[in-house]
Amino acid sequence: MADSQKLALEFQQNGFIVGNKFNEPDVYIINSCTITANADRTARQAANYAKKQWPNSLVVMTGCYAERDPKGLKSLESVDLIVGGKKKNEIVSRIIDRLNNRKISQIEISEFGNDSLLGRTRASVKIQEGCDQVCSYCIVPKVRGREKSIPPIEIINSINNLANRGVKEVVLTGTQLGTYGFEFGNMSLDILIKKILSETEIPRIRVSSIQPHELNQNLLEIWMDDSRLCPHFHIPLQSGSDKILKSMRRKYDLRMFQNAVNEIRTYIPRASITTDIIAGYPGETDDDHEESKNYLKNLLLSDSHVFRYSDRPGTTSMYINEKTPTKIIDFRSFELREIAILNKKNYLESSIGQIRKVLWEENEGRSGLTDNYVRVKLSKNMVFKKKVKKNTIDSVLLLKVIDEEVLAEIIK
Ligand code: 5AD
Repeated sequence: MADSQKLALEFQQNGFIVGNKFNEPDVYIINSCTITANADRTARQAANYAKKQWPNSLVVMTGCYAERDPKGLKSLESVDLIVGGKKKNEIVSRIIDRLNNRKISQIEISEFGNDSLLGRTRASVKIQEGCDQVCSYCIVPKVRGREKSIPPIEIINSINNLANRGVKEVVLTGTQLGTYGFEFGNMSLDILIKKILSETEIPRIRVSSIQPHELNQNLLEIWMDDSRLCPHFHIPLQSGSDKILKSMRRKYDLRMFQNAVNEIRTYIPRASITTDIIAGYPGETDDDHEESKNYLKNLLLSDSHVFRYSDRPGTTSMYINEKTPTKIIDFRSFELREIAILNKKNYLESSIGQIRKVLWEENEGRSGLTDNYVRVKLSKNMVFKKKVKKNTIDSVLLLKVIDEEVLAEIIK
């Protein structure tokens, strides 16, 4: 997302009109992901859909899939131009070349074919790129390269720019945030966050993802001291079996993960803790899966994103012979999802009666997000509902869970 937002800005600065409601854009860019075979498929579908709808548009594939498999993508008739994610700095000029100097060009940028970039209340700010970890299943190091931190001054400038343009929340993103700043000396994630808090006036800051062994008291104390930092921690678990975590070459075990969760809950009791977990990693037995289920159940997280294991070309786990059959992967992911939903429901129920700050993403309070990542909408009988504008922040009382949302009323 941060990549797409940056691209949008770059095209705007080069005279393009960036939007998502054109009859037929001159250029349609798919900023692809390649984390799983499913992500690849989604990107291909987006290209096919765009070409079918707008045969005369220039359909461009960029991002990680374009980086990983340009040859394979060449055979797709719906893709006119492929620009690997590492060559993003060339994308504007290569598109201008292809457009033969057409003067004003309308451009649509999408991550998966349906995401709107404009009118957002939240913006992503990339603070770090690449990954030096060696997780067995992951294609990211290959397509995004070595870890590299963005200099603090650039980050501060982009946050101030966004704040001036009216953005209310920034999400600090990257692949490996915990090692932020290692190449600068006297810089780290906690120092960066303190700097952002003191040198910007952005109302809300969210940190996208962090590893259990990177969470420490120093970091948590910043959250305790400043309510502009959203009490939401995404800590990818990947498996609830120590045996599998080891094979995945993760740098923590289940005990360390549980400690990290406990520590957050001790310091920031109402924090939302979310995770990613992979079902059907090679060599995962029924017992390992049962262990994973129990572990996930007992963690009581507020949301868990379940991924079906997917062999990625050239990763270490691709060479493990004991592959889990697709049907079993499907069933295991279904079981993990059930647990994720149950825990989410419990978390939402436990939030009832709380007062939280919500950033409205739609007018009339139709949808908004609390600091601790609860999706809320205003109850119908709120008198001043009409006056509730998108991109404003209100204090709300959480009233009632409806599906995966919470009904709320404004506290004046
Ligand atoms: N198969 C399935 N899920 C994967 N992820 C990363 N690589 C794979 C893979 N090969 C998931 C991890 C990660 C998330 C972004 O994608 O859970 O946290």
